[in-house]
Amino acid sequence: MSDQSTVPVATGPHDIPEFPTARGCPFAEPAGYPALRTHGPLAEVTLYNGRRAWIVTGYDEGRRVLADHESFSSVRANPRFPATAPRFEAARAVRNFIGMDPPEHTAQRRMLTASFTVRRINAFRPRIQQIVDHLLDGLVRRGTSADLVPEFALPVPSTVICALLGVPYDDHAFFEAQARRIVHGDSSQQDSADAFTRIRLYLEELIQAKRAERGEGLLDELIALYVDREELDTRTLAEISLLLLVAGHETTANAIALGVLTLLERPDALARIRTDPAAVGDVVEELLRHLSIADGAARFATRDVEIAGHAVREGDGIIVAIAAMNRDSAVFGEPDTFDPLRLARRHVAFGYGIHQCLGQNLARAELEIALTTLFRRIPDLRLAVDLDDLQLRHPAGLHGVVSLPASWETGSVR
Ligand code: HEM
Repeated sequence: MSDQSTVPVATGPHDIPEFPTARGCPFAEPAGYPALRTHGPLAEVTLYNGRRAWIVTGYDEGRRVLADHESFSSVRANPRFPATAPRFEAARAVRNFIGMDPPEHTAQRRMLTASFTVRRINAFRPRIQQIVDHLLDGLVRRGTSADLVPEFALPVPSTVICALLGVPYDDHAFFEAQARRIVHGDSSQQDSADAFTRIRLYLEELIQAKRAERGEGLLDELIALYVDREELDTRTLAEISLLLLVAGHETTANAIALGVLTLLERPDALARIRTDPAAVGDVVEELLRHLSIADGAARFATRDVEIAGHAVREGDGIIVAIAAMNRDSAVFGEPDTFDPLRLARRHVAFGYGIHQCLGQNLARAELEIALTTLFRRIPDLRLAVDLDDLQLRHPAGLHGVVSLPASWETGSVR
């Protein structure tokens, strides 16, 4: 699947292009990236508020920035941190480790790493399979067509993260609505801030209830290990679990929906998974590279640094364009082509360095199980609308489709 985009790119003052730019189709990188690459691996962009920032499109240079947390800070509370959309202004007030540097980042992340190892996630796979099976039972029972975003792609990771954390899935409509207001590209600062507060208060209340009556899940373990021993207060645990709850479902939901769409458009990739189920891991890595649903990791320079011949000054904002790095032709041959035979494991869809995605093993397991089970249970699944009619999510948020109408014949359901 090759997808050169032709969307015109707006420019800010002094002809500095704007960031972010829309994708021309679900399989394209943001429309502005080819032009930015003509300036080399580092270029300048204008953010929504008129602020200038550097943008890194080169694979090596991007990894260098993400790996060097001493020269490039993630501290969102610092006004120098470049907000790429109004919703990120609201995120400045939320204290959890995605927006921190060491030693605070290290201390918080260390409490969680053991719960997200390959071994722990593998042990959790049967539960994920059960959740996917249950959702597909309902889907198939209800008829021969569905919007796969609300009926499959979203409830899979949402149910999974609830089971893992020990958050009641009965509350999903509430926290999914808040998460949408937090991560969607067109949320205002006020809307996003209000959603952050609501979800934090909900989690604080849940933590208090769990202290009185313990349940099962990571939250309960963290309460016993840290809150009960007064090493962590309720608000801090609520802010950490807010990150896990929101990052744990919104990202993967978009990846599942776009993964389904890609496989519907590429029967050869689907055939590869069907004939060789062990190949699903490689296909998922290529999906992650090609789709790059979480783009634009922001940092600011804490000292003067030279990158690709440019002088980046202390305080400058810098955006690491993950989607561009994943299409750097020096690393990935024919990068715009979705190639199910490619070994894409060097992609940076989960970031790089100390902030590399904590939930990546979980996301991989969910994608593998969701995609293989969906196409096994509904082998003649097809898109019920034209590809061109699918609406993409706002470019300042996660990449995804708003809905994914699909249909199938009753007789084909197993
Ligand atoms: C396909 C799905 C996913 C993608 C593409 C993705 C992508 C990313 C990326 C690019 C980062 C790095 C951000 C940065 O450097 O500033 C990140 C961080 C993070 N992700 Fe994911 N993610 C996914 C799924 C998940 C899931 C399922 C969880 C569940 C817990 C999760 C939790 C986190 C957390 C906690 C961080 C912050 C890590 C840190 O700052 O140390 N993500 N993710």
